[in-house]
Amino acid sequence: MITFDEALSCFHLTNGRVSMVISVLKDDAGVSELVMPYVGAAIPSCEDLNALLPTEEFASFDSLRQLLPYCLPTEDRGDYRPTMLCAEDEQGFLTTEMVYTGEYTVTDGKPALPGLPATYCEAPGEAQTLTLTLRDPVTKLTARLSYTVFAEHDAFAASVTLTNEGDRTLYLRNAGSLALHLPGRWDMLHLEGSWARERRPERVAPALLTRQIESVRGASGHEHNPFAALMAPDATEFDGRVYGVSLVYSGDFRICVDENAEDSTRLVAGINPRVLRWRLAPGGSFQTPEAVLVYSGSGLNGMSQTFHRLYRTRLARGPWRDRERPILINNWEATYFNFDHEKIMKIARTAARVGIELFVLDDGWFGHRDMDDSSLGDWVPDTRKLPRGLKALAEDINALGLRFGLWFEPEMISPDSDLYRAHPDWCLHVAGRRRTEGRRQLILDLSRAEVQDYVIGAVSRVLASAPIGYVKWDMNRNFTEVGSTVTPGGELHHRYMLGLYRCMDAITSAFPEVLFESCSGGGGRFDAGILYYMPQTWTSDDTDAMERLKLQYGTSIVYPASAMGAHVSAVPNHQVLRTTPLNTRGQVAMGGNFGYELDLSAQTPEDIELIRQQVAFVKQIRRTTQQGVFTRLMSPFEGEVTAWSFRDEERLLLFAARRMSFPKEQPPVLRLRDLPEGSLWRDEQGRVHTAASLAGAGFVMPLPRGDFQSTVVVLERVK
Ligand code: DGJ
Repeated sequence: MITFDEALSCFHLTNGRVSMVISVLKDDAGVSELVMPYVGAAIPSCEDLNALLPTEEFASFDSLRQLLPYCLPTEDRGDYRPTMLCAEDEQGFLTTEMVYTGEYTVTDGKPALPGLPATYCEAPGEAQTLTLTLRDPVTKLTARLSYTVFAEHDAFAASVTLTNEGDRTLYLRNAGSLALHLPGRWDMLHLEGSWARERRPERVAPALLTRQIESVRGASGHEHNPFAALMAPDATEFDGRVYGVSLVYSGDFRICVDENAEDSTRLVAGINPRVLRWRLAPGGSFQTPEAVLVYSGSGLNGMSQTFHRLYRTRLARGPWRDRERPILINNWEATYFNFDHEKIMKIARTAARVGIELFVLDDGWFGHRDMDDSSLGDWVPDTRKLPRGLKALAEDINALGLRFGLWFEPEMISPDSDLYRAHPDWCLHVAGRRRTEGRRQLILDLSRAEVQDYVIGAVSRVLASAPIGYVKWDMNRNFTEVGSTVTPGGELHHRYMLGLYRCMDAITSAFPEVLFESCSGGGGRFDAGILYYMPQTWTSDDTDAMERLKLQYGTSIVYPASAMGAHVSAVPNHQVLRTTPLNTRGQVAMGGNFGYELDLSAQTPEDIELIRQQVAFVKQIRRTTQQGVFTRLMSPFEGEVTAWSFRDEERLLLFAARRMSFPKEQPPVLRLRDLPEGSLWRDEQGRVHTAASLAGAGFVMPLPRGDFQSTVVVLERVK
């Protein structure tokens, strides 16, 4: 899959459907640099693509450097665009020059990244990895660029290992993961948001300025997701060229897209340089996070489907990766902090009657936490609420036939906690400055090994103390006063993430049978980094069905349905006060990992019967929704009707929902353009449809008239 053409001095990475070409370019002084003249649909061989590169005659006043598609653009060498690497020397000079040494390796498979999440292989034949060595002739800073091509996924993974092979200390001021260059002008698609309205696709037209998304919050954040796509201006959901870049990282990131007057577009993705000044002593190494690059020639859906399959099967790990996910009931919106053993059991008993499989006890079970102002860090059950303890509650719930799950917020510390009274220096803080509280809490300094050990120990002790089968790992505030008694400021943001990943790795490895779901004030840390440790994430704190259409639609741009927690909640909805039918709430939630978040013991007998039917239906179809191919069909951002589909070898599940109704409206017609050629599908009336007719004429959805209605149709594959 990876070849080197000596005559043309170029590497060709291909799986027969996509290609990436990396060329060695010698300048007039005989110095070699690496450029990436082409990525996209497969080309048959490593052709001479250097003709695509600009030559000196196009570079007038400024140097040619800012026109070339460098694999590793560096600072202060005449490349004035956003760069990927900057190492400050002891005099404060930023000049960084990376010369290709001629050393490269091609290995089968894909090496793991030390301490960081990354996509992986299960057999060496699944991928090949090219590693290229570059070195600064003066400082001897060495960069090993690694590019993986996957056999079965139209994706490349890229990362950089930086090593100081010189004898002077350097400070990394920028250490990006991937640079991608495309000729021409490209729309940038990214996912913007805020609390309770995360991941809305925004498509930004080309402009002669740098389009940039970032986080400096200590989490990937509600505001921008660590993902961006470059779309040909005529690309749509089903047609056209799209390049998607997703960072496998949960901390402070930056993705910028820079377009210059010469019509060339550069995308750079990696850790946010705003918060980086990493001391690299002689002999020291720094590993950048991984960036995943997906190419699709069949529009945005094609890109999303590649991300979904790659992330579901070769990023998520553990026994729960491929298992059907349990239908859960969570008590948060049912009780908030106000519960006790008996109240929980009352909900759980109804849950058992309707076939729910997992009860999740949310915030408020520990310390003396009656609201959000205390006890984080004191992971000891509150005997006022649970007089017989956690184990007895878990066992009582198990006795009903349900698994038991528990909420934690392990990264946090309340000023009103025994932990804080014992270790006031364990939080992120700057000595002499006030400590800004967010949700009345501070953040543990996870850059410190003893704090990591505390978190690992405290969570593990609780998990070992009772039959707990699920954990919701929450995180409810962002960084301020990012200081530490131990770690230098320019290293703290990233060292926090390394510490967090160590905690997550240790805990999830020690309890492989526990299903972990991450959360951050809803979906404030919904990223590929966390999915490596926890196969599902709470999508948003907004549980209104109409809002969820947008949330799930937007999230699906990158992340698979198996990663999205989706719950049916009470009406009027607690976030937007809207009342929608239970049928619609259920059918929307079926588009993710299905569950309920309401007081089941307070529902009418009719609603309980409908819930029982919903649970039974989800058990029949969840293999398809959790592991099948997901396709976006009609966008909630463009009209009143939202539609999507799931399909696997056996069935096709069509979903449509309407927000607001209008007079004389016609039922939506879904055109299903990505069904296997020649396939035949039988609907619930026994009519058989060909793939060609479903793609051309489409399927008329029996969507009931009226506001907030939805429908689900299941077609069985007959050929
Ligand atoms: C934020 C989460 O998103 C909610 O689901 C809930 O767990 C609360 N935190 C609890 O404090």
